[in-house]
Amino acid sequence: MRIIGVIGAGQMGAGIAQVSAQAGYAVRLSDIDLARAEQGKAGIAKGLDRLVSKEKITVEARDATLALIEPVAGVDAMGDCTLVIEAATEREEIKRAIFGTVGKVLSETAILASNTSSIPITRLAQAAPDPARFMGVHFFNPVPVMGLIELIRGLATSDATVAAVEAFGQSLGKQIVHAHDAPGFIVNRVLMPMINEAAFALGEGVATMRDIDTACMLGLNHPMGPLTLADFIGLDTCLEIIRVLFDGTGDPKFRPAPLLVKYVEAGWYGRKVKRGFYDYSGTEPVPTR
Ligand code: CAA
Repeated sequence: MRIIGVIGAGQMGAGIAQVSAQAGYAVRLSDIDLARAEQGKAGIAKGLDRLVSKEKITVEARDATLALIEPVAGVDAMGDCTLVIEAATEREEIKRAIFGTVGKVLSETAILASNTSSIPITRLAQAAPDPARFMGVHFFNPVPVMGLIELIRGLATSDATVAAVEAFGQSLGKQIVHAHDAPGFIVNRVLMPMINEAAFALGEGVATMRDIDTACMLGLNHPMGPLTLADFIGLDTCLEIIRVLFDGTGDPKFRPAPLLVKYVEAGWYGRKVKRGFYDYSGTEPVPTR
């Protein structure tokens, strides 16, 4: 499995491309056009430059990693990939359309995996060229830092597919956990109710934004408080996942916090738009309420 395709050159796709190339795989990194794929690679180069300046990696290692990443437009160049990881926008119709296109070029033995954080794998598999060679491979943000990959098999995923993707994940130096194809898998099943509850607590005036975050950082030893983490992930993404949990289980404990809904309706999606629970337009994040 030496040639990997990564579809989607955003934060997750670029991170997956980076760690794959650092592990020695040749990577085809695609997006809807070449400019976006190249932008993804430029972001990787910037991150690697930071590691060079901190003396974490050598200039030669940076250059070797970058040389292994080839930005491509679309998926036509993925015919020789043994594993293709889709990390496109978290919208089912977009992923389905990609699977249809990539299915036309993938070899008969290639595996297709989705980095979806919440869409059921068995349902997505219906749009894949071969459900036996399809599964979920869920990375965490920032991919180069986070040590985990969740593997999720669909109803039809073969044992050989799971074994091959597990070996790939291990070769990246990541710890593998296996989850059933249940809403939110493991991490988001546990994390999103915490973020949602923090938004309830904020909305009910239990404490200030900063105190809720400080309480969880120092009282639970989390690297970020839940509201800061929500901004980091994207409030729109958090709301989407909590809705998947709510719809998928029918359990009212997953109902979205009204304040979270309100922030998303305002377009305050978090760090990526410089405003979420906190305002990121200055040098330091400032609470928005
Ligand atoms: N790429 C590469 N390295 C990075 C990085 C990036 N994007 N961001 C940070 N780092 C590295 C830094 O270089 C630094 O490395 P050293 O310690 O070796 O110098 C280290 O990470 C720490 O970074 P910083 O000192 O800049 O910042 P920090 O200590 O505040 O850590 C953080 C930043 C790693 C993001 C940390 O706050 C953290 O772990 N936060 C929680 C992240 C988390 O929970 N992610 C999962 C989200 S859920 C998800 O992704 C799934 C989903 O489906 C929604």
